Amino acid sequence: MANSFPTMRLRRLRCSQVMRDLLQEHTVSVNDLIYPIFVEEELDDFAPIESMPGIFRIPERKLDMAIKEIAAAGIKAVMTFGVSHHKDDTGSDAWNPNGLLARMIKRAKDAAPELMVISDTCFCEYTSHGHCGVIHGNDVHNDHTIENLAKQAVVAAEAGADMIAPSSMMDGQVTAIRSALDGNGFGGLPIMAYSSKFASAFYGPFRVAAGCDLDGDRKAYQMNPMNGREALRESDSDEAEGADILMVKPAMPYLDVLTQIRQRSLLPLAAYQVSGEYAMIKFAAQAGAIDEHRVVRESLGAIKRAGADLILTYFAMDIARQGF
Ligand code: PBG
Repeated sequence: MANSFPTMRLRRLRCSQVMRDLLQEHTVSVNDLIYPIFVEEELDDFAPIESMPGIFRIPERKLDMAIKEIAAAGIKAVMTFGVSHHKDDTGSDAWNPNGLLARMIKRAKDAAPELMVISDTCFCEYTSHGHCGVIHGNDVHNDHTIENLAKQAVVAAEAGADMIAPSSMMDGQVTAIRSALDGNGFGGLPIMAYSSKFASAFYGPFRVAAGCDLDGDRKAYQMNPMNGREALRESDSDEAEGADILMVKPAMPYLDVLTQIRQRSLLPLAAYQVSGEYAMIKFAAQAGAIDEHRVVRESLGAIKRAGADLILTYFAMDIARQGF
């Protein structure tokens, strides 16, 4: 046979580890990761979340200790979720300057000032019904909810949050928050918008973790998982409203959406590898079906390759400790 066949020998560039390392296109470092944490008031001890092996609800009174450990491990940023014992029908504890949301931000910043604290800005963990805003009739009222989101964002900013991350999927939430922040002297505080948040079954373990079970569903405000074009509209609109960073959530099942937004917008793009994605990997590894560390690498690498600049992931501590 002639020497010229095959004409393309792609394997030349895979011949050794050094060659593969030289030519690797993407990597992940702890600098790209945000670690979501759950902080519960009136709790004495760290409480394991059974559906998320390795993740604990942190007692508010031990938050300093936990934050110091997280910072010492090399984590650069956390996203805070409160597990509230003071729920009401509007979620008002979230804009109480002495409420859980404000207290946990202050405590985290006091414990490790260099650790970035991003405040998840929503109501589902603070409302008695579990919806992401105020109910009027049988619907979450958009415009009333964004007024409350604006109040919550200012309280978070006053408590020392480094970034505001609105996740309730209300229309106009970025505008409302931006103008409230600007009007209260926080013009320099960035907004990372959960711009394409799907009504996903992959949030299952989170609902237990954050203690925010709800009757019904969020389909009237979160996006239909079957839609991709609509995610581009959501991203365009959040960008026009002044979002500094866009987000796609969940991550792995929506890599196509990530790629499309990456090609369309010049803003930094975040992806949230959610609780169900975490649980699937953990439980499959526990069952001996997959190699956890390799699958975590591959999944985070794929999310970067698809277009994410930053990744919210419950694996952040594992990566910080073991490397990528
Ligand atoms: C609050 C919120 C949720 C998640 C992040 N912020 C739950 C939801 O929308 O039901 C999910 C995170 C995860 O599953 O890891 N709105």
